[in-house]
Formats: sequence, structure tokens, C-alpha cells
Amino acid sequence: MVHRTSERPYRQRTSEPSPVAQGPSAEGRAPPDLAVRAVISARRRMKDATDRLAPPELVLWEMATGVVVTKMLGAAARLRIADLLAKGALDGAAIAAETGQNADAMHRMMRALVSYGVFALDASGRFVNNFRSEALRSGRPGAARELIEYFATRSNVDAWNQLDETLATGRNGFGIEHGTSVWSWFDAHSGERDLFATAMMGMTVTTAPVIAKLYPWAELTRVCDVGGGRGTLLGELLVRCPSLSGVLYDNEGVVALASELLAQRGVLDRARLETGSFFERVPPSVGAYVLKNILHDWSDEACHRILTNVRAACAPGDKLVILEVLVEHDDASGVGPVSDVQMMMVCDEGRERSRQEYRRLLERAGFRLGRVTAHAMISAIEGVAS
Ligand SMILES: C[S@@+](CC[C@H](N)C(=O)[O-])C[C@H]1O[C@@H](n2cnc3c(N)ncnc32)[C@H](O)[C@@H]1O
Repeated sequence: MVHRTSERPYRQRTSEPSPVAQGPSAEGRAPPDLAVRAVISARRRMKDATDRLAPPELVLWEMATGVVVTKMLGAAARLRIADLLAKGALDGAAIAAETGQNADAMHRMMRALVSYGVFALDASGRFVNNFRSEALRSGRPGAARELIEYFATRSNVDAWNQLDETLATGRNGFGIEHGTSVWSWFDAHSGERDLFATAMMGMTVTTAPVIAKLYPWAELTRVCDVGGGRGTLLGELLVRCPSLSGVLYDNEGVVALASELLAQRGVLDRARLETGSFFERVPPSVGAYVLKNILHDWSDEACHRILTNVRAACAPGDKLVILEVLVEHDDASGVGPVSDVQMMMVCDEGRERSRQEYRRLLERAGFRLGRVTAHAMISAIEGVAS
């Protein structure tokens, strides 16, 4: 069924600057852990209730067409259709003309997206934005457009085409399909690397208010964000803690844009940028280290090498803060299990881990487990150098 709407086309707004140009900030309030868990649980229960209104075969069929949604949303994101419709309603032919696509194919894709509740059709048969497609517009701090475009890239979807092989062998689909790691792939495909880095930046902006509350950052004097991407988290921490200074450490291609961002946040004078591999070394004697969404990309052995290098850079008592989603073995209630299978498919033995698994990794590398603050969106696991 096609959803028609009486919604008027969104009036043209002055285009918002991209997160990169803006130097994203996360002024929002941190949603409490209990509230997030309650919302996740309520949505699942409501979905369960509405799904029971239809035959289970239909529900499963809808779920099985997930690849249809992934690719169509990805195309809408890539072609910036939500930005176009922000200027006014357009029919499929006009969208196709603006984006250089085929008119018939465009109309049919847009109509199908409307049937999934993304975009709407107005009374004159023209497409308009709705509350879901608004989130696809460029320049949103959460960078959903880039995340969706990245997720639908051929390299990611092709990795998922190897699920049978991954299930049989445990090897990651990306490596089987492309014969290389996702990080080397990014080195050779800078467009995808930039898309991924912007998407990660958006996720950091979204979770930054939570991260700010998870740990007493103001207790630290210097911190190194290891694999810190373009410095979004470091920028947030330096803005929030005026006496803190920091080091950003990542691959060369990623760090290149960071100084601009940190300058826009007004904290470049308190930041140092260093490039290198955390498998070789990390900047020594900083006093405290952060690993956000790093360890879930790697096998236990690779994590051990990273943690050993961080430990070698620490003096006894120095702190390491791991920021990851915690996933317990028999708990499917949160967002972690889906993130976990994405790591399984795209990273070399990547996985989300439980509190005990992090404790073991930390202790093996010469840290003791310190404070753990769990949150449904992301948790802080502190290691203290023994
Ligand atoms: C999942 S992203 C997380 C980025 C950032 N910490 C965040 O949460 O937004 C993983 C990061 O690890 C970096 N990375 C991958 N291999 C690395 C290596 N050997 N040495 C340093 N950084 C690396 C990538 O460039 C990327 O920025």
C-alpha cells in the first residue's frame, strides 16, 4: 500500500552546513540508560504486537526484503534526494532529471520507499519529505545520510553476500569477498573511507553527551584518543574540560582533516596530532588513553597487541578508557547483537564483547579492571595500568 499524505512540501530552508564544515558539537542532553532501554523495549513490544496482526509469513517476507530497503535507502542517500525535496515537492521524472537517473525507475523506487514509510506522496502525485526522510538530509550532526550511504556500498553488501561462508568457517565476509581488510580497502578507496569516517563522526556526536557523563574526564590532565578518527570525541572532551589537553592518533589519511575540525571547535592549541599504527606503538607518557569503537574491530589476539602497546606507553596507575557497547552472551535486548554481526562480517574476527571478556583482555595486557559504567548506547570500561 502506498502512503499518501496531505503533508505540504517542506519549505525550502537555508541549507545547513555539513558536520565537517560545522565542526560538530553535541550540545544535546544525555538520555539516561533506563530511558534508552525502555524505549528499545517498548518499540520491540509494539512491533511484536502489530506483527501479530498479520500472518507470520508476511512479516518474515517483509524482513527478508531487507536488502531492498538497504539499497533503495542507500541510493536515496547517495543522490541526496531528501535535500532536493527540501526545496519543494517533485515527481519522479523531475527527481530523475535533477539527479541524472531514469524517470521510470526513479518513480518506482520512490513509490516503494513511500510504501516503507520513507518520503510521502502528496495529493498531486509528487514526492515530499516526511519525518523519516528529513533525517536523510545532508548536514545533520548525526550524519545518518553518510551512514546509510556507507552501509549500502557495494563493498559492504558484497561482504554480507559471504554470510554462508562466514557461518561455515567463522572467517569475515569482507576478507573472503575482497581479499583484504576493510582498513586496507579504505586506503585504496578514499571516497568510502571519507564516508565511513563522517558516519563514525556522526555516531560520536550522537553519543557524545552520554560519553561525557560515563566517565569523570575532568579528572584527567592529558588524554590520547587512539584510533580517534577525525578528532570528534577528542574535540568534545577538550571543549567540555578546559584544563584537558590531548593527542589524536590514527592513520595518516584519517587524521588529515582533524586539525580543521579541532580548530573549528577552538581547541587546536590543546591538541597534538600524531599518525601511526596502534599495532606498532602509541604515543608514550600521555597519562590516559581512550579506545572508542576500536577493540570491537579486532580479534582477541589483535586486541592484545593494541592493549600491550597502550600498556607499554603507560606508567603504573595510568588510565585507559575503553568505550564500546557491552554485549552479554545471552542478552539480545539491546542494540549490540546487530552491531556484533556487522563486526563479524566486515572486520577480521571483530566482535562486541561482554564485561568479563574486557576484564580478561585488560588483565592479560597488564591492566586491572577499574570502573565500569554501562549504558545501552555505549559503555565505559576503565583499565588501570598495574
Ligand atoms: C571504527 S573507527 C573508530 C573511530 C573513532 N574512535 C570513533 O569512535 O569515531 C576505527 C578507527 O581505527 C582506525 N585504525 C584502523 N587501523 C588502525 C591502526 N593500525 N592504527 C591506528 N588507527 C587505526 C581507523 O582509521 C578508524 O579511524
